[in-house]
Amino acid sequence: MFKKIALCETSQMESVQKKRFVIGDEKIMLAKIENTFYAIEDTCSHAEASLTAGILDGFQIECPRHGARFDVRSGEVVTLPAVMPLKTYPVTVEEGQIVISLEEGGVDKVGCADTGGCTNCNCN
Ligand code: FES
Repeated sequence: MFKKIALCETSQMESVQKKRFVIGDEKIMLAKIENTFYAIEDTCSHAEASLTAGILDGFQIECPRHGARFDVRSGEVVTLPAVMPLKTYPVTVEEGQIVISLEEGGVDKVGCADTGGCTNCNCN
């Protein structure tokens, strides 16, 4: 069973290419590539660095710690040293909101993980 969670408004992704969200125990990187949104687990499978601080190159995100690359569309590893793929989340746009589907599990609170406090999505 899945439930939908709105991360933010599409307008909040106009000036940024990627943004980090925390939903319960899940850390998610939302990326905008060629006007399409992708959501991928934001914890590198090699040594748990946040990928949001990494560099997007086409459909690949490069981990800022040791350089592993992942395909944001599938979560598959493209470059070592990571070997385990990452989870991805279905993304839709509904009435101007970017919405992801999560497996049910009691997750209710969304935080965008903006440093210094959220000023965008009223998550705090
Ligand atoms: S933590 Fe990402 S490649 Fe090592």
